[in-house]
Amino acid sequence: MAAILVVDDNESVREGVATALHRSGHQVSIAADGPSGLAAWQAASPPFDVVITDLKMTPMDGMALLDAIHAEDPEAVVLFITGHGTVPAAVSAMREGAFDFLEKPFSAELLRARVEKALEVSRGRAQTARLARENEHLRAKAAPPSDNGVGRLIGDSAPMQRLRDLIVRVARTDSSVLVLGESGTGKELVASAIHAESPRAAGPFVTVNCGALADSLLESELFGHEKGAFTDAHSRRLGLFEMAHGGTLLLDEIGDVSPALQVRLLRVLQEGTFQRLGGERPIRVDVRVVAATHRDLEHEVGEGRFREDLFYRLNVVPLEVPPLRERPEDVALLAEHFLDRLRARTRSQVEGFTTEAMERLKAWPWKGNVRELENCVEHCLVFADGKRVDLGDLPAPIAGMDPGESMPVPSLDIPLNDALEQLERRLIMRAWERAGGVKTETARLLGIKPSALYYKLDKYGLGDRGPAGPGDDDSG
Ligand SMILES: Nc1ncnc2c1ncn2[C@@H]1O[C@H](COP(=O)(O)OP(=O)(O)OP(=O)(O)O)[C@@H](O)[C@H]1O
Ligand SMILES: [Mg+2]
Repeated sequence: MAAILVVDDNESVREGVATALHRSGHQVSIAADGPSGLAAWQAASPPFDVVITDLKMTPMDGMALLDAIHAEDPEAVVLFITGHGTVPAAVSAMREGAFDFLEKPFSAELLRARVEKALEVSRGRAQTARLARENEHLRAKAAPPSDNGVGRLIGDSAPMQRLRDLIVRVARTDSSVLVLGESGTGKELVASAIHAESPRAAGPFVTVNCGALADSLLESELFGHEKGAFTDAHSRRLGLFEMAHGGTLLLDEIGDVSPALQVRLLRVLQEGTFQRLGGERPIRVDVRVVAATHRDLEHEVGEGRFREDLFYRLNVVPLEVPPLRERPEDVALLAEHFLDRLRARTRSQVEGFTTEAMERLKAWPWKGNVRELENCVEHCLVFADGKRVDLGDLPAPIAGMDPGESMPVPSLDIPLNDALEQLERRLIMRAWERAGGVKTETARLLGIKPSALYYKLDKYGLGDRGPAGPGDDDSG
């Protein structure tokens, strides 16, 4: 006796298959669509031995269900039921890892024969998987996290540990992953970790920001074009899908893609092939797709701005990157990490944070998340005088002071303009020092254009000598 799940939106097919298998002594569960089938599969304990699913269903078709199941258990045995004339689709499904397919109409005997064959394989796989799991358990204990993979994701909080575990697990599969999270939480870093932890690590990791490009440009970026496809197409150009062959393609800001392009993306994901603009030949590539967005994509679907079928295709495995304010225990680790990294780059002498400064950092709500914290640490390095970053070196709003208070105030017996110039000169020299004398970097640290910096260097007679000129007292 085996446990079998039957998923079909056609009631008579569903019931017919279930009855036939029940009569051969199997324990059969049924579901009327993809999402409830997936839910039943995930809830089952012990797991189902075999899944039989219709290929054509909405909103989640059999392929999406297969992907979702394989994301959690690549060894799961899935059989497709296909309508008459959809054999090509079934063949491509087999290429994607389906075990077998049954073309309608089929007899009860044929069904039982195919299921028995599937069960044999399923039992064999279950045994191998158990052995592999035991081995892996031992290996995982010995192997340190990889350097460009999840090891780059700093944070010891429970949500971060969970995220790293999920990344490692999902990296082993080829399923589409949707990375969700507020701006600056580390979505791109997560996507690159998925790639680096995957068997595709040696292949390319290609990123495209879908929100930054106009529709027509994005289309030719993604799919490439043949010579003469449009006025400016002087030569053939490979698209990003082709460049990512053997690797991973990150579709960043997927929530910003237009309805027209959503249709094209869906087709590529369903069929695994596409054509260059102006081209006729279908091109097949082997690409793992990761999408990311700061939008609430389910809400966008509800509002009719994002296609539901594309959403299910991309959302096979959702990964949520938690905002920094929900894991304040990570702030200290991240701040130290950024300080170390920046110190090496700017040759700064600052070694850490005072307790008071660190307390403020932990208490701050971090609306801009990890990126905001990174910028904040950079600010601190520009302003810190001593060995440790102190309250006064934090950006004014975080330090909880008026901007005037966070800097030493010159005495009142010099005119205001002179006092401002003194301060400006000192800040320029300090930034210059942190930037190791690189002018563009100095300008960046000060948040001004290089041309403005040249003007000021001239004005203060610093010229090419930088801050080392006579009489430069930067002791504060
Ligand atoms: N857990 C982390 N450990 C170390 N660095 C991190 C972590 N999370 C984010 N960062 C760093 O923070 C910055 C922002 O991360 P990233 O660009 O991945 O965020 P994002 O969510 O894609 O942002 P956006 O929504 O603005 O595109 C990067 O410099 C990244 O290296
Ligand atoms: Mg990003």
